[in-house]
Amino acid sequence: DLKIAVIGGGSSYTPELIEGFIKRYNELPVKDLYLVDIEEGKEKLEIVGGLAKRMVEKAGVGINIHLTLDRREAIKDADFVVTQFRVGRIDARIRDEKIPLKYDVIGQETTGPGGFAKAQRTIPVILDVCKDIEELAPNAWLINFTNPSGVITETVLKHTNVKAIGLCNVPIGMVYGVAEMLEVNPKRVYIDFAGLNHLVWGTHIYLDGEDITEKLIDSFAGGKSLSMKNIPELPWDPDFIKSLGMYPCPYHRYYYLTDKMLEKQKEEAATVGTRGEVVKKLEQELFELYKDPNLNIKPPQLEKRGGAHYSDAACSLISSIYNDKKDIHVVNVRNNGTIADLPDDVVIETNAIIDRNGAHPINIGHVPAKIRGLMQAVKAYEELTIEAGVKGDYYTALQALTLHPLVPSATIAKKILDDIIEQNNEFLPQY
Ligand code: NAD
Ligand code: G6P
Ligand code: MN
Ligand code: MN
Repeated sequence: DLKIAVIGGGSSYTPELIEGFIKRYNELPVKDLYLVDIEEGKEKLEIVGGLAKRMVEKAGVGINIHLTLDRREAIKDADFVVTQFRVGRIDARIRDEKIPLKYDVIGQETTGPGGFAKAQRTIPVILDVCKDIEELAPNAWLINFTNPSGVITETVLKHTNVKAIGLCNVPIGMVYGVAEMLEVNPKRVYIDFAGLNHLVWGTHIYLDGEDITEKLIDSFAGGKSLSMKNIPELPWDPDFIKSLGMYPCPYHRYYYLTDKMLEKQKEEAATVGTRGEVVKKLEQELFELYKDPNLNIKPPQLEKRGGAHYSDAACSLISSIYNDKKDIHVVNVRNNGTIADLPDDVVIETNAIIDRNGAHPINIGHVPAKIRGLMQAVKAYEELTIEAGVKGDYYTALQALTLHPLVPSATIAKKILDDIIEQNNEFLPQY
């Protein structure tokens, strides 16, 4: 009997997941779905759990939804554990965005110092979750969504015995984006991805198996710009895109258009608020909708969040493992020589064949110098971020932040680090 535990079940994204499991019930007959949250998240859990129960009832599928604050009960004998929690919740995210902005550094929840802070809060919790999995469900697969997704997945693979795959909706969003541009069914589009989570490049794009990269680069260069709901859609410079010759992910704007993005962030912070502040309001509106006892589907308003296609990525991955499908997904997986320019034991984001034994990445070899440098720098930052987060080591943390391409100097890195540690005091037991 298939049992799935969702840690952070009170998330407003949960109806996405429920919809995904309902759609796939015939091939993935989930019997018990445990939504787990913490005391502070109890109210959200009850509201979203109520909607989840109405959704499965309306669909007429036999999924039993359980709501609990007891993580161990949820994990015990689970086949899959999905992690989508946010340590410190939305207020911590808002602080993550605001601290760097004080020093004229990009303030983003996963990229740059904001992502570093989120990682430091999350690492102790994910290690605890993994202890429960090792003890109570040693054969379970951990499907991690918790951001920074690549960093958290790498932490699990380096420091625990849990089988883990990391996920993000950016790659699938890029496939859908290309399909939309070409006005074709997304099933006809295939992209080779290489890089890291939120730093992934589409190196080749195919339509019905034919390489159309060059043609498409021309239309990106002609001004088309795809983004996600959470990232300002600043246009790419046509010459830059032509010279890159690849499809950058939306998060690349923070690296390649840093000055303009920073300006935009400061303007937003002074008017509508940071993205976290916008999301806080959006989330309140969503939960008001979820409370409606007549609502029994995922409401379209959820599309205002950045997590579009999130459940397609998660539920179809789970189905591929469960059904030993041997099809291809874009996942966060141990490098193992796939990208020859990175260490074996780090996590990369790339295409992988999925079967009952997990994700088998498709070989890439060396990547061109124009993307290699940034990728290696950010990976070194990530490795140090993980080491700092596990040990609670100030000096390692200082090196991590200083190394990050968006942080201009050791002086600024130290100021940001001190603010992060001070403002996250209650969430950093390791420091
Ligand atoms: P959220 O603030 O709604 O948090 C989700 C739930 O986690 C909350 O109900 C909260 O109470 C709970 N929580 C906090 N600490 C917990 C703990 N220790 N144990 C169990 N539950 C805990 O956040 P959200 O916007 O729904 O996002 C959830 C997570 O998913 C974040 O980490 C976010 O970055 C990530 N996310 C990732 C992707 C991706 O592409 N990988 C897409 C969307 C969201
Ligand atoms: C995208 C990213 C996620 C991120 C989300 C934020 O989907 O892939 O990793 O968590 O956007 O969206 P939000 O609506 O919370 O700003
Ligand atoms: Mn993501
Ligand atoms: Mn730097």
